[in-house]
Amino acid sequence: MSARRVLIAGNWKMNCLSADAKALAGGLADKMKAAGAVNFEMLVCPPAVLIPTAVDAVAGSAIKVGGQDCHMNAKGAHTGDTAAAQLKDAGCGYVIVGHSERRTDHGESDEVVKAKAAAAQTNGLVAVICIGETEAQRDAGKTLDVNGTQIAGSVPDGSTAANTVIAYEPVWAIGTGRTPTSAEVQDVHAFIRGELAKKIGADEAAKTRILYGGSMNPKNAKELLALADVDGGLIGGASLKVEDFWAVAESV
Ligand code: PGA
Repeated sequence: MSARRVLIAGNWKMNCLSADAKALAGGLADKMKAAGAVNFEMLVCPPAVLIPTAVDAVAGSAIKVGGQDCHMNAKGAHTGDTAAAQLKDAGCGYVIVGHSERRTDHGESDEVVKAKAAAAQTNGLVAVICIGETEAQRDAGKTLDVNGTQIAGSVPDGSTAANTVIAYEPVWAIGTGRTPTSAEVQDVHAFIRGELAKKIGADEAAKTRILYGGSMNPKNAKELLALADVDGGLIGGASLKVEDFWAVAESV
């Protein structure tokens, strides 16, 4: 652990109706208010249509709200998309970009992810840029190559520790209950920080938070979050229950 403030981020994906969103975000806000000063920052990223519900539910607590994606352009003829400025206007402080599910479902390349991250940063949002290797890439010994390429290609020039968070999410660990060993996670995170230093300079890289994501849960969070270069988690399944997500945060 370091001076970097740990970020516990929940990626709700395409889950929840408004009543669930209200109960989940509201339940976390109650916990946060009751806890007082905490040694972590908490973020929830609901589906776009539920952002206003979540923003209302966390009002008065320190919990932040983020989007799960934004368009690379400022506005205009992009049916179904959401602009970074609209997320900001709705009360978001963050947006996830380049999640592996978007890279797969929507064919997003590093170039697209980089443009989205830049749009987020320009509009005053922190871009949570996701990277990670597939199982086939890992088996072929390409884990570092793949993550290095994604850092080089997905992180905008001029990014800073203040407007950027990296999330390392091995694709094969997402939603599977499987995780790399702690030693493997630390090795990849340290490597990512090194690649980030080439891109944005050693000072900014040293201050930038690198989250681990992929089957993080109340059981394994403590060990993962204690690793030197792990500065938080991006949590899917375990972010959908107040008790589970809070337990992950409490293990910081
Ligand atoms: P998971 O998802 O925690 O359910 O594995 C993490 C993510 O995809 O961000």
